[in-house]
Amino acid sequence: MIPDSFKQDLLNRVDVVDVVSRYVQLKKAGANFQGLCPFHNEKSPSFTVSPSKQFYHCFGCGAHGNAIGFLMEYGGMGYVDAIKDLAAGAGMTVSEAPRTPQEIERRERETDLYGVMEQAMEFYRAQLKASPRAIDYLKRRGLTGEIAARFRIGYAPDGWQGLKEVFPRYEDKSLVETGLVIDNEGKRYDRFRDRVMFPISNQRGAVIGFGGRVLGEGEPKYLNSPETPLFEKGRELYGLVQARDAIRAAGRVLVVEGYMDVVALAQYGVGYAVAALGTATTPVHIEKLLRLADEVVFCYDGDNAGRKAAWRALETSLPLAVDNKPMRFLFLPREDDPDTFVRAHGKEAFERLAAEAQTLSAFLVGELRAQADLATPEGRSKFLTEAKPHLQKIAAPGLKLQLVKEVAELARVSQDEAEGLLDLRTAGSERRYTRPAPGRGVSPLTTLPEMNLLRCVLAKPDLVERLEDELMDEGLAETAAPARCARATPKTGPGRASSWAVLIEAFKGTVHEAVMVRAQVSASELGLTEGDASHQFDQIMLALRIKRVNEEIDTLKREAGTRPELGAELARRTKELAQLRQQRV
Ligand code: UTP
Ligand code: MN
Repeated sequence: MIPDSFKQDLLNRVDVVDVVSRYVQLKKAGANFQGLCPFHNEKSPSFTVSPSKQFYHCFGCGAHGNAIGFLMEYGGMGYVDAIKDLAAGAGMTVSEAPRTPQEIERRERETDLYGVMEQAMEFYRAQLKASPRAIDYLKRRGLTGEIAARFRIGYAPDGWQGLKEVFPRYEDKSLVETGLVIDNEGKRYDRFRDRVMFPISNQRGAVIGFGGRVLGEGEPKYLNSPETPLFEKGRELYGLVQARDAIRAAGRVLVVEGYMDVVALAQYGVGYAVAALGTATTPVHIEKLLRLADEVVFCYDGDNAGRKAAWRALETSLPLAVDNKPMRFLFLPREDDPDTFVRAHGKEAFERLAAEAQTLSAFLVGELRAQADLATPEGRSKFLTEAKPHLQKIAAPGLKLQLVKEVAELARVSQDEAEGLLDLRTAGSERRYTRPAPGRGVSPLTTLPEMNLLRCVLAKPDLVERLEDELMDEGLAETAAPARCARATPKTGPGRASSWAVLIEAFKGTVHEAVMVRAQVSASELGLTEGDASHQFDQIMLALRIKRVNEEIDTLKREAGTRPELGAELARRTKELAQLRQQRV
């Protein structure tokens, strides 16, 4: 059960207008918004959404409800999933009573593990106060006590079993599970010794991991927590909790490479920086960043490694880029990183540089140009060939169009010729569902029911066998993808879709790639379990079946006037509809 207080809190934070307008084009009409009702066919709008009352109502068919109801009715989600979906967009975590004994155990275990991490963090902080050497190191790096406290920086003392002081039951398995202690054939010792400790928090502020830096020289420079039940590296951003307010205020988020970069920038007044954690930037990171701010600036060192990392981030970003949220790339002078730069030149100089950061398109075109000699026909055609996979990945229609034009011009071909050569025209007349600008705090991830199906399939790939492609509207890029999934993957035998990686791979380089990536990110962000996915899948398929039968009934009703023999069929379908509705839970 989800507590009522949580539901209220959630409904206070989301705006039904944002939620509905992800699916329905709404126009302002007085105090309300108006549009064509998504629940029945109509030519003139009788569907209204009230921001003050926070509900939608259709004067034509009587459909009525709040944000949760809308996602259930239109998105085909179950109650819990609708709440989870809204909560994910609002940065809230659903505290749901666990269902199975295994789940109860898992959750209790996790609670314990969070407690262990918190205790360790407090221990390291206390140890920092007691270590003049560690304090001196941080001071030499220009950090104040205030900023160290804000980031809860600590120190892991030298010695093999320092943590024994706070965890007298040093043999407890939670210490190994959290990655704090290493077990080597029964011999146990602290993972972090004689290091400055940077705690890594999740979005709620709970400690889930650590990065530990040697004082001075030594290998490895940073030692990080391993992946644990609490810590999945590709999802987390260092410094997010501390940066959240500054990100809102600036409308911008800066992505840097290192712990010290985040901390030093904050110290000098650039509070909106976060860092990916020693991994490349992942699609989950990018979605998170786009939801947090209107502008994302990736900041990399000016050296070759920095340019490579930036290029990887660009490749990851292409399918997720949206037209109203620019992404940019800032390259620092070769000898600097954000930490050294801001300390030497200060906030204003850093922000001046950030303001001039390269746009994603300038970076992309610039790198492609550098690899081809545009003065020769061969070079220009190489340029086009190199550009092709990148342009194909872009889902944002405006960005794609602009880039095609620019690439065409550089390659001295017409826009039309470029589109042909780059295979950008999609077969048939596939329209793309252009989602409205995601508002802050609203998940841009849920779209149509078919998109949610895809998400379930990616969470539990064997569901692909139960997809019924004829139930899906193939007119939109989003809805065509699951239908293609259903047809493209052998249902049995060796080629059977065994994991989401296989599914994603099957769509690489096609117009569906971006949709697949978005669905995957969304599944992973929601932490959909296989059980949830299975349940949600059945509910959506049912909703689609109901929708299909409804449409058939509408058609029959229209035709029955002139063809009375259709009456029996109409009665049969109506009965079928009633039966289907009863299956809803
Ligand atoms: P850098 O080597 O650029 O270090 O690594 P840095 O951030 O400038 O660190 P300082 O200023 O010397 O203290 C960038 C990031 O890569 C990861 C860390 O997340 C680090 O912040 N990293 C680096 C590791 O995880 N392990 C390493 O050994 C080195
Ligand atoms: Mn550095």
